[in-house]
Amino acid sequence: MAMVIRRHVSLSERTTLKMGGEAACEVTIRSEEDFDELGKFLGSEILRPFVIGKGSNLLVAGDVSDVALLRVDSPITPQRVEQTERGLVFRARAGHKLPGLLGWAQKAGLTGMENLTGIPGTVGGAVAMNAGSYGTEMQDVVTRVCLWTPSEGLEWVDAEDCIWGYRHFTPGKACRCLIWEVEMALKQDSPDAVRKRMRTIIDKKKATQPVTAWTAGCVFKNPEGDSAGRLLDEAGFKGRRLGGCGFSKLHANFLENLGGGTADEAMELMNAAKNAVAEQFGITLETEVIIL
Ligand code: EPU
Repeated sequence: MAMVIRRHVSLSERTTLKMGGEAACEVTIRSEEDFDELGKFLGSEILRPFVIGKGSNLLVAGDVSDVALLRVDSPITPQRVEQTERGLVFRARAGHKLPGLLGWAQKAGLTGMENLTGIPGTVGGAVAMNAGSYGTEMQDVVTRVCLWTPSEGLEWVDAEDCIWGYRHFTPGKACRCLIWEVEMALKQDSPDAVRKRMRTIIDKKKATQPVTAWTAGCVFKNPEGDSAGRLLDEAGFKGRRLGGCGFSKLHANFLENLGGGTADEAMELMNAAKNAVAEQFGITLETEVIIL
């Protein structure tokens, strides 16, 4: 399967916030053989590579006309690898959708990821951000990650040799890399019990988060021991609008594109919110969403 290059691709069509201009190109990697070609391509073009998954944690705010989006699209079903004391180890491609993977695990009666129900995006994106919710993070289930770098090619790294933090992941060695494949371990349970727990989580999420709106998830990280959503709410930002953007009426830490919203509006709202929280509570909020 050959690598696919598309020129002049719209970021507003590739992000859940539905904002952003045109990138120079999008390179889709579909098989391991494509990496040789990718290395040559990146060496021959003066472009900024940026690995994109489903664009569900991304605010495209600047000029992206010199960006080469790199995307893994290799839709194979997860593969069982081996039974270990941590449970069944299985392998999924980075481009696999996280909700799809959770569906597969549910049918297989595999438990451990139910709390991640409702998180959009790809498996690779979830690892790159150490996505988490309700006390479970990707680092709790990932055992190995297969990375690609232009200099080393493909290489498996043990999860314990990587640096994991709150919405943060760095492979053992500092490098700019692409996640190709991920191994995870989950324990056996009944499909019905897993399904029930997933249902409880999605119900909770729907009641507290704008899950169907155009957002990029939580905009700011929670400060130690507190919630950015609560602080933004108290500072009066819940439902605050500017043009086509606004903080959600349901949860103040979600910025919504209400239709026709621009990155300038989003950035202005975020800055205003950050300044207000700093002034009122003496807390500096850090952005969680990736700003490109
Ligand atoms: N709260 C308010 N007003 C709001 C929003 C929240 O008062 O507008 C209060 C809630 O009532 C609650 C507290 O703040 O008492 C915490 O809120 P919630 O339970 O919704 O959790 P959160 O801390 O706001 C975090 C993660 C979410 C994750 C949920 C569930 C961050 C920045 N947020 O939200 O992750 O889904 O817990 O585990 O870590 C994301 O990473 O994009 C994300 C949405």
